Amino acid sequence: MSNPLRAVRGMNDLLPTDAPLWQYFEGILRAWLKAYGYRELRTPILEHTGLFKRAIGEVTDIVEKEMYTFVDELNGESMTLRPEGTASCVRAVIEHNLLFDGGKRLWYAGPMFRHERPQKGRYRQFHQFGIEALGYAGPDLDIEHLLMTARLWKLLGLADCIHLELNSLGGAESRARHREKLIAYFQTHEALLDEDAKRRLHSNPLRILDTKNPAMRELVEAAPRLMDELDETALAHFEAVKTGLDAAGIAYTINPRLVRGLDYYNYTVFEWVTDRLGAQGTVCAGGRYDGLVQQLGGKAAPACGFAMGVERLLALMLDVGVAAPADVADVYLINVGEAASRFAQQAAETLRDAGFNVVLHGGGGSFKSQMKKADASGARYAMIIGDDEAAAGEVTIKPLRGEGEQQRVALAAAVDLLKAFVAPASSRQL
Ligand code: HAM
Repeated sequence: MSNPLRAVRGMNDLLPTDAPLWQYFEGILRAWLKAYGYRELRTPILEHTGLFKRAIGEVTDIVEKEMYTFVDELNGESMTLRPEGTASCVRAVIEHNLLFDGGKRLWYAGPMFRHERPQKGRYRQFHQFGIEALGYAGPDLDIEHLLMTARLWKLLGLADCIHLELNSLGGAESRARHREKLIAYFQTHEALLDEDAKRRLHSNPLRILDTKNPAMRELVEAAPRLMDELDETALAHFEAVKTGLDAAGIAYTINPRLVRGLDYYNYTVFEWVTDRLGAQGTVCAGGRYDGLVQQLGGKAAPACGFAMGVERLLALMLDVGVAAPADVADVYLINVGEAASRFAQQAAETLRDAGFNVVLHGGGGSFKSQMKKADASGARYAMIIGDDEAAAGEVTIKPLRGEGEQQRVALAAAVDLLKAFVAPASSRQL
């Protein structure tokens, strides 16, 4: 017997029972993004591999170990499923010259792919909502992003369980000085380095600091700190960000060990973290990346942004008991008989014209079995049509959740009756 077909490990189906929470979440995010003047950008899921190598950095976990890369057999080109959204966003901004008339505030959402070891909160296909502000030197935009995220946690009911960690990676000169010190430090402890660290010692020593190897934790903890190398400009930028946070009453922890796993960052970096999700507690992360636009071939433009992990935020919402509004129809339309079935199609369309959500029972069955389905569907009303109702152009309306009496009326009157109890879907909040 052949093996049963299964989804790829670490890649999840989103089932209809889970969908209402996703839709609720997405609805809140869309309104929130609009409130801050961000506009949507959609880029392809597949890009040329070189884009991610250049943007994220050749010597990073993502590029070295986690990308889904394959050769397109039709033209021999190396392609990669996007592991994150910033690179694609910057590529699109350059390609379409979007900064020609000044800065842009953009957002994107969708699946990302990383070949990591799957565990709770860590998937091989996961979803991000990402925000990028390009063409702004900051620190006002850095602050805007932190205020935005703080507001979002409130909107999602998560403000009490997420906290902010902040660091500055300084500019190129600070990092060059730090790099020399790091190399010297790790060289004196070379025996304690694992294979990855040895390989990265000269190519990308900063990446040794975000090692996932617990055996190296102590060594990394005692390593020279970038924070100690920051020059005046970097310090002033960092101070301004902190002042902005203080003025808005947003609490944060300075974490000098926060270096992020992607090479493009400079100045402000941050992570919003929860301790309620186990090891995968970072729900949102980002920072400033002033060199990336130029590095990818565009005219130099400062930029900053962040991305959040949708699965992690939804897990957190479930953990704290945030419930999505029920995803149920207004009316379940029961129909028994041939004439009834024809009239029911017409009645369902009439109800939809009036703005109601209607499930039209399919597949036949007795009144009793259809009524059971109507009840189980969670709909507020059953509309019942038999052949004699159909002949009279009438319907029977039966409240399923205790609002009013069962009544047999003309179809038009049924619409009015429903309007008295149920607001049309078009006027409802998600
Ligand atoms: P990142 O830290 O690699 O940053 O990912 C951002 C968020 O995506 C993480 O904090 C986490 O919530 C979620 N995430 C990452 N990997 C996984 C996974 N395997 N399973 C589930 N969730 C995951 C970036 O991607 C940057 N592009 C963020 C950014 C935007 N920086 C500037 N602009």
